[in-house]
Amino acid sequence: MPADTVVLRDDDERYPSLTTHGWSVTARSWGARLELTDGHEQCWVAALDGLPPEDVCRELSAADVTAALALDSATARDYPGGVATAHERLTAVRASPAAGRRGFGVLDADQNLVAMTFVDVVDVVGAEAEVDFTVVARHRRGRGLATAVKAASLLALKRAGVTTVRTGGSDENSGILAANQALGFQVDEHWPTLTAANGPASVPSHP
Ligand SMILES: CC(C)(COP(=O)(O)OP(=O)(O)OC[C@H]1O[C@@H](n2cnc3c(N)ncnc32)[C@H](O)[C@@H]1OP(=O)(O)O)[C@@H](O)C(=O)NCCC(=O)NCCS
Repeated sequence: MPADTVVLRDDDERYPSLTTHGWSVTARSWGARLELTDGHEQCWVAALDGLPPEDVCRELSAADVTAALALDSATARDYPGGVATAHERLTAVRASPAAGRRGFGVLDADQNLVAMTFVDVVDVVGAEAEVDFTVVARHRRGRGLATAVKAASLLALKRAGVTTVRTGGSDENSGILAANQALGFQVDEHWPTLTAANGPASVPSHP
């Protein structure tokens, strides 16, 4: 992150001091949380049912790494927002599903991977997970694929005993905000990105 940029939660005690000392908000991001309850399952299943019949939504495996890297490469510049929500390009390791990192995808009639989401199971006992990223091929956006692939991940994580999932993104990203809302996520954190007007400056420490 550049020395003149800092990302703070909006209830951080340093926030008012920075804004009165020439730092200004240059981007905004959010965090959201979802408790995986039985009550949500119906809407996740409905999201999956909304996929066109020729599409297949399934968990990704080691055999999908090349396709995942190709989709990531084609969409790497599409993530809106600033440093707080910058997308880290996939590597072969990060594209390889494992016990603590599960991937889900949508494949079209020609077996092309057209949507994917990767989720890290972060809690030691596996009860909490965090979405790394979700992406849809440009030519397939706006037709429910992001909502469906995230729904598939939530159903599988719940079956595996995960109880809470966190996700996040940029305020500019209306698409992923709407998808998350449809799946039951509630935004519970706001993270402004502040930039110093006069170049690198020190960030006040906590009082
Ligand atoms: C964000 C993204 C994943 C959304 O995928 P998608 O398949 O188009 O999303 P869906 O079709 O499931 O749409 C979900 C909702 O968002 C809305 N939406 C989708 N794109 C939108 C846009 N550009 N602006 C406003 N709303 C949008 C849809 O209308 C839908 O709302 P609804 O449930 O009220 O009908 C896709 O645009 C993308 O890959 N962007 C680049 C990567 C990215 O930003 N990923 C998210 C951060 S990890």
